[in-house]
Amino acid sequence: ESELTLAIVKPDGISGNYSSSIMHIILQSGFTIQTQATLHLDEHTVTTFYAEHSTKSFFPSLVKYMTSGPVLIMVLEKVNAIADWRTLIGPTDARKAKITHPDSIRAMCGEDLERNCVHGSDSRESAAREISFFFPNLLSGGTTLKH
Ligand code: CMP
Repeated sequence: ESELTLAIVKPDGISGNYSSSIMHIILQSGFTIQTQATLHLDEHTVTTFYAEHSTKSFFPSLVKYMTSGPVLIMVLEKVNAIADWRTLIGPTDARKAKITHPDSIRAMCGEDLERNCVHGSDSRESAAREISFFFPNLLSGGTTLKH
């Protein structure tokens, strides 16, 4: 059963010129890129997207980071896309990823717990919310994943 997930190349990934390498890995790994957009997110958009983290101490820094430059937002499709994209990007902390998951995307282009160069939806619910947040016309009915 085919599944959709949301991938973001964050500002450090874009400024470090990792977009084409990351897209290459995505296609080599059997995903198709359903749609993509390069956007410079504003504070309101980041605050809304990351609402679940709004009470965390790192939130102001996260907003500053995510608004610091353009991001590449992609909807990826594949069987088991959500879990497989999470596996490909590696652990949240890029510093740890370099040790424990050296072949992961975050090990390649990330720096630390915050500047981890890519995002991936962590569940079916998050994927549906995140995809409809950036691409409101993509999912029929708004919350139902394609299959
Ligand atoms: P991601 O999992 O894509 O979405 C939430 C982001 O917040 C995460 O990537 C990191 O960029 C950042 N983040 C998560 N935890 C921390 C933390 N403890 N300190 C700083 N940034 C964090």
